Amino acid sequence: MHVNQQSSALSPLELKVQTFFELSEDLCCILGSDGAFKALNSVWTDCLGWQPEELRSQTWLALVDPQDTPSSQTALKSCINQKRYPLQNRYRHKDGTYHRCQWRFSATPDGDIYAIGKLATASPALETQVKLYHQALEATTCGITIADLHKPDYPIIYCNRAFEQITGYSQAEVLGQNCRFLQTPDTDPVAVEQIRICLREGISCKVILKNQRKDGSIFWNELSISPVRSPQGSITHYIGVQTDITHRQLVEATLQKSNEALAMRVETRTTALRKLNQRLLTELVGRKRAEAALQESEARLRAIFERATIGICRLDLRGQILESNPVMQQMLGYSEEALQFREFTDFVHPDDARTERTIYEDLADAEIERYERELQLFRSDGKGLWAHLTVSLVKDDGGEPSFAIAMIKDITERRTAESALRLTRSMLDGAAVAAFLVSADGRILYVNETAALSLGYRRSELLRLRIHDIAPDFQPEVWAEHWGMLKEFGSLCLDSQHQTKEEKIIPVELTENYLLFQGQEYVCIFALDITEHQRAEAEARRALLREQELNDLRSRFITTISHQYRAPLTAIHSSAEGLGQYGHQWPVEKRELHVRRIQVAVNQMTQLLDDVLTLGAIESGKIPFQPILINLGEFCQQLCEELKGDRELQRSQPENEAYPYPVLPPIRFTQAGDPTAVIDRHLLRHILANLLTNALKYSPLGEEVHFHLACEEEFAIFTIQDSGLGIPEADQPHIFELFHRGSNVGSLPGTGLGLSIVKKAIELHSGEIELISQVGVGTTAIATLPKC
Ligand SMILES: Cc1cc2nc3c(=O)[nH]c(=O)nc-3n(C[C@H](O)[C@H](O)[C@H](O)COP(=O)(O)O)c2cc1C
Repeated sequence: MHVNQQSSALSPLELKVQTFFELSEDLCCILGSDGAFKALNSVWTDCLGWQPEELRSQTWLALVDPQDTPSSQTALKSCINQKRYPLQNRYRHKDGTYHRCQWRFSATPDGDIYAIGKLATASPALETQVKLYHQALEATTCGITIADLHKPDYPIIYCNRAFEQITGYSQAEVLGQNCRFLQTPDTDPVAVEQIRICLREGISCKVILKNQRKDGSIFWNELSISPVRSPQGSITHYIGVQTDITHRQLVEATLQKSNEALAMRVETRTTALRKLNQRLLTELVGRKRAEAALQESEARLRAIFERATIGICRLDLRGQILESNPVMQQMLGYSEEALQFREFTDFVHPDDARTERTIYEDLADAEIERYERELQLFRSDGKGLWAHLTVSLVKDDGGEPSFAIAMIKDITERRTAESALRLTRSMLDGAAVAAFLVSADGRILYVNETAALSLGYRRSELLRLRIHDIAPDFQPEVWAEHWGMLKEFGSLCLDSQHQTKEEKIIPVELTENYLLFQGQEYVCIFALDITEHQRAEAEARRALLREQELNDLRSRFITTISHQYRAPLTAIHSSAEGLGQYGHQWPVEKRELHVRRIQVAVNQMTQLLDDVLTLGAIESGKIPFQPILINLGEFCQQLCEELKGDRELQRSQPENEAYPYPVLPPIRFTQAGDPTAVIDRHLLRHILANLLTNALKYSPLGEEVHFHLACEEEFAIFTIQDSGLGIPEADQPHIFELFHRGSNVGSLPGTGLGLSIVKKAIELHSGEIELISQVGVGTTAIATLPKC
């Protein structure tokens, strides 16, 4: 019956439909597109107690059990979309109870929905049971889904609340879909294939799938699917049970990891244990061997103890002798019993005993493990002996000090030898003469401090050298020969030379003694530096020579002076005599001539005396060297002037035929360069006056004398050139010697001292003089003096 329409207003077709509508035993109704009742048949009243008027303002959904509303809503919507799904829900009776109904829907093009419902005929008990199952399904924490196998693509027709919670999708979103929408691109394809096979073969399976929730998050789904069969045995549905095992997976993964770690640890531990076991086994074997070796070594040690050539004793931690070996007993002169339990320090010199005790205490406290020293021990007969003592601490297995072993070596002989050696050495070390001990192959084995000092080496350096390094006379081949002589004669004394580190050669007097000591050959060399001695000798020789020279000179001097004086004296004598006897008869000219001769002779003697005095003064240093700043040009010019007007010089010219130049030649003076210089004026006068006088004296008539002064930066060079007699070649090397005169000077007066004076005066200035001369051509004297 139409909810708000009278049957009289219906068309014939509608009437026919209404008839079917009314005839139906099912709940039939027509709903508007909003789900409101438009028409319903009388079954609604019969089965559910509702009058059509009562439902006029109601919607079909309003009477659905709220729990079933979503699925009912979905079913309605689906049918609007031309998808038809059967629906089962609980529908409200007018009395408020709910009845299970199965619905089918169909939508008409005008938007109406035709719904046919069938009340489930289940018994109330069954109903209750179904309800219970449903509640159980809804209450379970596992997701439960049912897929319809009769429909294409096996859509889900049911899912419980837990499924909604696990996946985040609502029932409405899920129903009608295949569950694969939960899968992700990396869901295990093997597991998916397994499901496919199960579905194909109609069997159950359990797989673990990686699925995705609605919010995109991933969860691990343990899915069990099992078939539901119809009473006829055909599979109608599949039930899926989904369990979110994400947490379990995590725990399992963690567990897996820790299992792996544990397995690893177990493995490591097992390996370690295996190794330990192996080691223990090896140790066991080793220990057994060691025990055997220990027994053997104990026996050996005992034998060593008994037969050792040094004294050995065992001491307790207080220093008491526990046992001693025969050598020890012999050394100290006591029996074994007499030594036992005596303190070791009883045998030590009182000076050493206290130190010994302190060291021993340190040993017993395990602060040191071993010590050794040399000390004096006392024998039973009161005699002392020098011993080298070594004490070693022995610990027990627990590392605690147990006892000590003392080993004593008698070193009396060595100590005695050593002290003798020390004595000898200190003697040698302190000796003022250089001492060396040299091996047969020339190695220097010992040197004393004097040797090191005199050679400028350190002692350690010398010990690395060979004899030829310091004695150039003893090169290896010479040394070998020398060694043969040493062996033959036992000792040698010779003069030689040593070379210092700075390669200075010093003369030495060597005393060498051949030694044969303990089968080894040595030579002990004492070297005396004779530099001073030689110098003194040379000095003495020189002094002797000089004395001889002086003697020579003196006699030559006396001879020459006497000779030089004789001529003027004779002249004076004869002229004076002539004047005395015949002067009154001689004409004036003749008298004057003789008077002049006397004057010339006196002048000569005076000159000679002057020269001798000047020379003596220069030689004895009485003429002091006093350089002052002078103008050399002016000085030379003035000197020339003086010489030109020197009447004495003029007068000194003899007037006999032997001398062909009665007139003095002129001096031509020239100069160049800066003439200022620091020179001793007095000495310079001697030099130049001498040289110029000579040039004037030996120059031919009219031939001028060239006098040139060349002033360079550092030197003043005086060149005096004449065209006089010249000096014969044979005389030239001796021309500066005292009293030497050219062999061609004839009767020209002169002392033979002038050039000696020149030479000495030049030397005082650190200058030089050179004479270039040729007989008949002339002489050039070049005197070079430093300007300051
Ligand atoms: C009852 C049932 C429940 C299922 N539940 C899930 C599920 O929760 N997650 C999932 O990934 N697949 C689930 N599947 C499997 C897929 O629906 C589908 O059968 C599988 O992907 C293999 O088929 P295909 O090759 O057509 O995808 C379920 C299948 C059935 C029958």
